[in-house]
Amino acid sequence: MTPAGPSHVDPTDHPFDAAAASAARLAELTGVDHHDVAVVLGSGWKPAADRMGEVVAEIPMTELGGFPEASVAGHGSTVRSIRSGDRNVLAFMGRVHLYEGHHPNVVAHGVRTAVRAGARVVVLTNAAGGLRPDMTVGQPVLISDHINLTGRTPLLGTNDDRLGPRFPDLTDAYSPRLRDLARTVEPTLAEAVYMGLLGPAYETPAEVRMVAALGGELVGMSTVLETIAAAHAGAEVLALSLVTNLAAGLGQEALDHEDVLAVAATSAERMGTLIADVVGKI
Ligand code: HPA
Repeated sequence: MTPAGPSHVDPTDHPFDAAAASAARLAELTGVDHHDVAVVLGSGWKPAADRMGEVVAEIPMTELGGFPEASVAGHGSTVRSIRSGDRNVLAFMGRVHLYEGHHPNVVAHGVRTAVRAGARVVVLTNAAGGLRPDMTVGQPVLISDHINLTGRTPLLGTNDDRLGPRFPDLTDAYSPRLRDLARTVEPTLAEAVYMGLLGPAYETPAEVRMVAALGGELVGMSTVLETIAAAHAGAEVLALSLVTNLAAGLGQEALDHEDVLAVAATSAERMGTLIADVVGKI
């Protein structure tokens, strides 16, 4: 098979067409015409992919079109097609962040591509700072809801009805069904509200007090736009944060991206098994 060049449809102005083009290209390059579940692996979560099943294909995200080159250490730039039981899982080995300077539609492009490829379930993972006193470093936490304080959304502009409705309901954006399912696999999983901020600086202690006052229990720089895009498209979302540090001002340590990655790496294999078990039950 001679692959065609990457799609030149830009998600910024044509999010549906770009996702459709990337999904077609994905099928062509992987030989897998349908993916059931998408998994987005955040900071340090990449080793989790090795626990999810047999890797059928791995290709650079940029080959799909619509994805920028990754710019942050620890954020990979490939996508894997994984056979997990009788499911085809599409694992993004890294993600695009707003703080890299990308348009919200570029941030949401992976999720939209996965939905066009057939995924009805989207699993989002991230590293986050923990605000609750019961949270410990290395702990996985289910996201029960979010507060989007990025000031951005992938639904900005004229709505394309092929993507979803103009005013999507986010009440159950973090699927209660999937959270229950995750707890049947790991009954000790806690739940928390994730506050998404733009970054890339970690928060000031005063901002962390604001997050707490507003009801945030985890803080991070990703996930919320992807969740909005998935919910808009009618996909179910399961989101998991790994607490890699206590939020600024709450712990003793200065915040360091390397430490965040190291904490994530030590837990990632365990998280991979968790995700694989959940995927097997979806
Ligand atoms: N704040 C924001 N993003 C993060 C943090 C944090 O404390 N830890 C990991 N990602």
